[in-house]
Amino acid sequence: MKTFDIHKVRADFPLLKREVNGKPLVYLDNGATTQKPQSVIDAIIHYYSDMNSNVHRGVHYLSQISTDAFEVTRRKVKDFINAAEEVEVIITKGTTDSINLVAQCYGKAFIGEGDEIIISAMEHHSNIVPWQMLCDEKGCVLKVIPMDERGMLDMEAYAKLFSDRTKIVSVTYVSNALGTINPVEEIISVAHKHDVPVLLDAAQAVQHIAVDVQKLDVDFLVFSGHKMYAPTGVGVLYGKAKWLNAMPPYQGGGDMIKDVSFEKTTYNELPFKFEAGTPNIEAGICLAAAIDYINEIGIDNIKAYEDELLAYATAKLGEIEGVRIVGTADKKSSVLSFVVDGVHPYDIGVILDKQGIAVRTGHHCAQPIMDQFEIPGTVRASLAMYNTKEDVDAFIAGLERALNMLR
Ligand SMILES: Cc1ncc(COP(=O)(O)O)c(C=O)c1O
Repeated sequence: MKTFDIHKVRADFPLLKREVNGKPLVYLDNGATTQKPQSVIDAIIHYYSDMNSNVHRGVHYLSQISTDAFEVTRRKVKDFINAAEEVEVIITKGTTDSINLVAQCYGKAFIGEGDEIIISAMEHHSNIVPWQMLCDEKGCVLKVIPMDERGMLDMEAYAKLFSDRTKIVSVTYVSNALGTINPVEEIISVAHKHDVPVLLDAAQAVQHIAVDVQKLDVDFLVFSGHKMYAPTGVGVLYGKAKWLNAMPPYQGGGDMIKDVSFEKTTYNELPFKFEAGTPNIEAGICLAAAIDYINEIGIDNIKAYEDELLAYATAKLGEIEGVRIVGTADKKSSVLSFVVDGVHPYDIGVILDKQGIAVRTGHHCAQPIMDQFEIPGTVRASLAMYNTKEDVDAFIAGLERALNMLR
């Protein structure tokens, strides 16, 4: 087994060396986006210096090598999530793009008036709004799995939400606002007993936890490159071929066609059927470098290291008077959300920033969660593999300083 060398990992991320507001940067906003290792930055430079060209189009040399590199990413994603076939990997712009694709295309094929879609009370807006838009269009109904005060889904209530009109379940693997790791195996097995497919939003999962789509038997799984050390503008939609083949495309344009005439257009095979227009080639190619980086460190090493760091940070934060951690599920990953009695989260975020400490404050694109907890928002510290106990100590000291000023 490979060993996890935090000093080496940190040295791989050039941005971590910079100062912010005259203080060494403590970057704890990884749930929003991660920093990039030198190997990914090098891959971006390599792409534009040596191979920039459009993909899937030209006969010329550069187009061929960029097409090959783009397809290497597809292969690496397939292996990374253990998909059965490369054609089940659709390269998108990100998680939001992937969920909209499924809502529209699966919706066109399988959802009609009066049908029901199950989501959960802890979804990111990206896994609420596309389904609401579909409901407005089709007259279908959104049903919501409730969660308790610790941020855990009510699985008994979930089992009772199914009816013969249920057409899809779409839930998050890990909550971006609470850190809850949902019991996705059980969610999938209950849905499959009703012959209902499941989409997992793995935007906060794949960079922290080993994901095996065949073992999970999940029907769709989506994630974003930029949250897993790759550039922005690229993401993944994994779908079982049987579903993807049965769904019509929703965007028309280049790459997704076989033949076009003014009378009729026939669509391309998978995966290209869902990849209309020139993709973000650079980001697509460099996603492979990010996957290589994660594989080199080892996802199980990353999980073990981050779990220990989360436990350390949770204990330290719990010692501060007046702090209430929001999201205390049994199983959590890398997210520490909290509020402080009588202090607005935004004010804490601003004073932390003055000390070079980057956190996120607000509703984290999950307003229904904040409504349930009756809070305006939280302060969220979210961890990545390059964070250290020293980062946590600096954050705790910075928070204490902020609270001394604000209370
Ligand atoms: C759980 C979850 N789903 C979806 C998204 C949306 O991701 P993107 O903005 O990369 O499309 C995020 C981003 O924070 C997220 O955390």
